[in-house]
Amino acid sequence: METDRYQQSLNELSQREHLRRLEPFGGGVDFASNDYLRLSCNPTIREKLLEFLIENPQLGATGSRHISGNSEFFDESEAFIAKTLGVHSTLFFGSGYLANLGVIGSLGGPDTTFFSDERNHASLIDGFRLAKGHLTIFSHNDMEHLEALLKGSQCKHRVIVTESLFSMDGDQAPLADLCGLAREYGATLVLDEAHATGTLGSQGLGLSHEYSSEHLISIHTCGKALGGYGAFVCCRRSHMREFLINRARSFIFTTAPPPLLIAQARFALDEITSNPIHLRNLHDRIERSQRLFEGIGLPHSGSAILPVIVGSSKRALVLAESLRSQGLLVKAIRYPSVPEGAARLRITLSSAHTDEELQALTWALEKGQLDAPR
Ligand SMILES: Cc1ncc(COP(=O)(O)O)c(C=O)c1O
Repeated sequence: METDRYQQSLNELSQREHLRRLEPFGGGVDFASNDYLRLSCNPTIREKLLEFLIENPQLGATGSRHISGNSEFFDESEAFIAKTLGVHSTLFFGSGYLANLGVIGSLGGPDTTFFSDERNHASLIDGFRLAKGHLTIFSHNDMEHLEALLKGSQCKHRVIVTESLFSMDGDQAPLADLCGLAREYGATLVLDEAHATGTLGSQGLGLSHEYSSEHLISIHTCGKALGGYGAFVCCRRSHMREFLINRARSFIFTTAPPPLLIAQARFALDEITSNPIHLRNLHDRIERSQRLFEGIGLPHSGSAILPVIVGSSKRALVLAESLRSQGLLVKAIRYPSVPEGAARLRITLSSAHTDEELQALTWALEKGQLDAPR
């Protein structure tokens, strides 16, 4: 009998320590989620959502925005988000993954070259697969390399694509330099603000908040620091929103998100802009952990995402399991989320972590680093 090829594929993953299993989350201190401001369980947002549901009985959007799913509430909410972020217009997508597919996919064409940071997220990479055009990879955050590639490119249209706060490394893209290069070479700059939204920039509105360049398109997810689900794209050029409405396949060929999700994003943005304490607390926790990490000689990214790179997948799994047994929930991140041989623990901080929890994590890491087999 033919070996079941699906089973074979699973066996291969297992042999390389790359097999993933869905495990129930919880039972310890959360150092793994992207709930950086703990808004996923914020009581004020919850109250507002309950009221919203009572006043708005429509649960589902019932169709794509082009067919039956549009409403004044969508348009008005997008205008509200645009005003909050100080941009020309915004467009909501079902998720960050869909927004990245839609934006990147629609910007392609036979005369287009994408310049992508080598550490970009899978959703951006899948966008390139969908887009027509050429793809060039520049070394991580290396502006000299990017400029050399831009200079050498004969293509009519250039699109630079990067994350603003890198999801697996916790470091930031040099946005001022990127904007300068985009201007100089007439390129569009696509900035994935998934992890910076709520955690960086003035009022937590992302790194792009201080930049007004028309060439910049930023993508903000609502499932991470905003504690909900979905994403919005910020357009700074007058016709960009209309372009996406007409060209982004993951906007056109899918049901619009339920109104409740849009309301959640609005309430979450309200919460972070009217209560700066969330962002202040997060940055206080980042500084506190920085001092603790320095004490044990561990590098610190300076953001809410702290990678502890350990190399092999096996070692990352053993360390994560050891932390879990001590009540600390930290995920081992393995290939293909990160390159082979660069497996790591990905520790995320939140505004709610206590001094004691940060101390417990630091001790456990110090001990784990020493104890775990190499
Ligand atoms: C950098 C980055 N971009 C985009 C996404 C996708 O966002 P979403 O979870 O809203 O689909 C993620 C999620 O993991 C991410 O880390």
